Amino acid sequence: VTASVSLTVNGERQDLDLDLRTTLLDALREHLKLTGTKKGCDHGQCGACTVIANGRRMNSCLSLAVMHQGDEITTIEGLGTPDHLHPMQAAFVKHDGYQCGYCTPGQIVSAVSVLAEVKAGVPSHVTADLTARSEATNDEMRERMSGNICRCGAYSNILEAMAEVAG
Ligand code: FES
Repeated sequence: VTASVSLTVNGERQDLDLDLRTTLLDALREHLKLTGTKKGCDHGQCGACTVIANGRRMNSCLSLAVMHQGDEITTIEGLGTPDHLHPMQAAFVKHDGYQCGYCTPGQIVSAVSVLAEVKAGVPSHVTADLTARSEATNDEMRERMSGNICRCGAYSNILEAMAEVAG
């Protein structure tokens, strides 16, 4: 069974006819050829597929595309270009925030969202502080990034990159 779904992806409207069972991840990768978003586990364990949907980060492998009718989706391709890196992308390069690079798009999308969450005062498990704050402790950052797994173990460099962008 197919259905029509309209999404705005990286600022561009996309009208797709998809099998109802198509995940948002597969819609992005297979139908829109936006292969920056990676498929690691395909069941919500690794974070490689992280995208931003209507301002909140999510694992795109866990969500059906048809549930995103009218949504605004941002993928790694929407954050920066090779000529104009997003500040987080530039910081990952500077601090060596990767080794093999497979998890990197998800890490960067998550890292950008984490800083926005901190700024907006979205609580983490480490702090129940609901008041908006402009900075987070290292422990909070680690907790907030805990859904993004890196087999190469680049975690400390990722946190350094985030700290630099956070200022
Ligand atoms: Fe979605 Fe691993 S591919 S969480």
